[in-house]
Amino acid sequence: MIRLSVYLVVQDEELRIRRTMDALAKVADEIVVVDSGSTDNTENIVREYTDRFFYNKFISIGHQVKVAEELCSNKWVLRLDADEELSEGLVNEILAIKENPDVDYIVKTVRAGAKEIISYPVIKSEFIDAVNNVKQQFAEHIQKQAKCKTITVFSNKGGIGKTSIASNLAYELAKITKENVALVDLNFQLGDITTFMDLKPSFDISYVLKNLNTVNKDFLMATMEQYKNTSLYVLADPPYFKQAENVSPKQISKLFEILKESFSYIVVDTDSHFDAKTVTVLDSSDLIFLVTIVNLPALRNCERCLDLFNKLGYDKEKVQIIINRFMENDEISIEDTVDLLKKNIYWKVPNNYFAMMASINKGLLLSELNPNSNVANSFKELAIHVSDSVYRTNLIKKFSGENTKRLDDILRS
Ligand SMILES: Nc1ncnc2c1ncn2[C@@H]1O[C@H](COP(=O)(O)OP(=O)(O)OP(=O)(O)O)[C@@H](O)[C@H]1O
Ligand SMILES: [Mg+2]
Repeated sequence: MIRLSVYLVVQDEELRIRRTMDALAKVADEIVVVDSGSTDNTENIVREYTDRFFYNKFISIGHQVKVAEELCSNKWVLRLDADEELSEGLVNEILAIKENPDVDYIVKTVRAGAKEIISYPVIKSEFIDAVNNVKQQFAEHIQKQAKCKTITVFSNKGGIGKTSIASNLAYELAKITKENVALVDLNFQLGDITTFMDLKPSFDISYVLKNLNTVNKDFLMATMEQYKNTSLYVLADPPYFKQAENVSPKQISKLFEILKESFSYIVVDTDSHFDAKTVTVLDSSDLIFLVTIVNLPALRNCERCLDLFNKLGYDKEKVQIIINRFMENDEISIEDTVDLLKKNIYWKVPNNYFAMMASINKGLLLSELNPNSNVANSFKELAIHVSDSVYRTNLIKKFSGENTKRLDDILRS
């Protein structure tokens, strides 16, 4: 059952607010009211329904809305105006969704970054104003963000090699490109990056999320952990899961927006669950490395995952398969794997238990400890491959029209 917070921004609404509150009481688990200084009976009426009544000095409507949103304690939030009365039909619809949340609906809404439910019918002029407003706000961001590539390493199975791949790939990317690379540990429960790289960061992701309103490039560079004078910066998981328990997809989106403005590459290590924060990051990624090993249970999981990515509407090129712990003489051949997954394999990381274990136990990355090992070489080649295709894509973007296809062919040859 979904728990729903509803918030209202009000001032002197005594004449209308009771009807609104009556309808809200049927659907809301929490009603938050932010008042800009009513001199009438608004507060008393509101307090008959909720004790979450707050006064906040009016600066702008946007500011009041933000304050109200932050006071909501549930993940699902509905914004209403004081004079908007929920119709009986809408009340029933909300109750139905709350009781029987449809996964598709939730995923779609989370992905859409839904902030509010707007009233219907939509007024054309208001709609156009809103679109223009959003366009203007994001034009600059989008330009900066387009230069950054986000690569998320995911698997819906644990212990498959996500952290090994994410940390080594990020390190190699930084070494090869000399550009700023962010390595983000999104595994809030069992994050391993600090262990793999022997880091004791002063700050972690929960600190950055708490300060999202003041975060900018300088803040990020100062709080993220620079790895041994390289251009690799790590954003570590929180030491206590509780610190990041209530992280919302909206916060994650905002964090990645700022990261994208500050870094050329973002490599994300994930846990093995499809929660809202992971879907938010998968959505905004340019490339998803779906990691599997070659055994039947792992491949079946991988197949399911591909199916889900397909349902989420991800481009086929965006999702690429990495086979970890690859052995030439595996019982299931690469041809069988391709047949089963109906997808080519993007990369194969060789199996090398001793090199991997030594690297993890010493808290060093592979090319620091054992640069000539087959796994270290594989990660280096992977980074070259990724940065090369990023370079190629950027170059192609500069050209347009008929020559684009030819240029792509030339660069590929
Ligand atoms: N290419 C490889 N060859 C041999 N062993 C490997 C290889 N890659 C990873 N491993 C081993 O597999 C284990 C799990 O690796 P890792 O922690 O990177 O997986 P994970 O998917 O991040 O796990 P979790 O789901 O717990 O986060 C580690 O002990 C590591 O040494
Ligand atoms: Mg891991």
